[in-house]
Amino acid sequence: MTTISLDKLKELVELQRPGYTLDQQFYTDPDIFEIDLNTFFLNHWIFIGHISRIPNIGDYFLFETGNESVIVIRGTNNQIYAHHNVCRHRGSRICVENNGNKKVLVCPYHAWSYNIDGSIKSARLMPENFNKDEWGLHKCNLRVYEGLIFINFSDHPDDFNEFIKPTSLFIELHDLSNAKIAHREVYPTYGNWKLTLDNFHECYHCQPSHPEYCQVHDAEYILSFGGGSQSSGVESKSFNKRLEDWNNKVQSLGHLTGVYYEKEFSQYSRSAERTPLSGGRLSETKDGKPAAPLMGKFKERDGGYTSVGPSPFNSLLMCNDFATLFTFIPKGPIETDVELTWLVHKDAVEGKDYDLQNMVWMWDKTTIADKKIIEDNQKGVLSKKYKPGPLSKMEKSLDSFKTWYLRRLLLSI
Ligand code: FES
Ligand SMILES: [Fe+2]
Repeated sequence: MTTISLDKLKELVELQRPGYTLDQQFYTDPDIFEIDLNTFFLNHWIFIGHISRIPNIGDYFLFETGNESVIVIRGTNNQIYAHHNVCRHRGSRICVENNGNKKVLVCPYHAWSYNIDGSIKSARLMPENFNKDEWGLHKCNLRVYEGLIFINFSDHPDDFNEFIKPTSLFIELHDLSNAKIAHREVYPTYGNWKLTLDNFHECYHCQPSHPEYCQVHDAEYILSFGGGSQSSGVESKSFNKRLEDWNNKVQSLGHLTGVYYEKEFSQYSRSAERTPLSGGRLSETKDGKPAAPLMGKFKERDGGYTSVGPSPFNSLLMCNDFATLFTFIPKGPIETDVELTWLVHKDAVEGKDYDLQNMVWMWDKTTIADKKIIEDNQKGVLSKKYKPGPLSKMEKSLDSFKTWYLRRLLLSI
């Protein structure tokens, strides 16, 4: 249970200055972390994995955050289930390995067993009036959309269709239901989830920290990071012109163009856009050449880059031939897992159709560099000398994220 009073938190929220970073407590305090977790992460639809992670009946993986653990498992008829990993007898964890294959879920404590669909299979020596039907596993809200597994921990989840609608055309363009995982990597990061996301919301740090990213995305794009037309960065006339020319060319191919962002405050914080890669590159690779066979609804390679943020906790970054999907998982007050999943066309063969190192090159190097700068940032923020600092013109997206966070938090208090 949290010990910070809601009045105190409200007072603290109202003291935050626009255009500055947050007070220290927001990046360090265990009580605020618990409130954050319940208000945000456990209250949003979160993409947690691609269906190809569990291809066979009985394949499962655990998704864990805070005190919560969910078993995501493939049942018969290819249906995917999400069950809370809490035995209905006396509450033990049922699955303790991070992933595996199980035809029956057996609790290690007193051996109650559950079918893949969560119903009880057997419970020994229970009284005559024990009704098995009442003691199935608690279900977690789940939605499989375009091959992407989303869950929502809320007892009253937002309507999924309403949530996904504004970004759906951008996602569906890449036909991720016909993709497979080429690689998956977790980057445990010693940093509060907001500090981790602050870093992801700005490209002020890209020049000093990300030579690989700056090679693929040109300086003008980086300057106007967040989309030229969204003006969340520094307005760049030359990038806007290049975007306009590219839009015209791509529209003539019948491909999607455009941008989406929340024009007004809402409980969501969604965004989507398509932009050209730098210098006529066809993919997010070192030499700009294709990384893998074409995927999605593209008639031909258009050298575009689709960025979708269905919530602050996910980024779907997609070229014509592969996709890099991010999940930011708050694990503790100063601990966040950054999980990356790289997808390619389901028929692509590693070593023949794509070179894995070439494909993961940019985001692997960039995420390792981000981990380092976030961790150094967190160490400084823990110091008694930390005070909120002023944001630059290239950190407008960070400021918007911070404003959204405070407003949303205030509404829940
Ligand atoms: S706690 Fe699971 S069988 Fe007893
Ligand atoms: Fe970065």
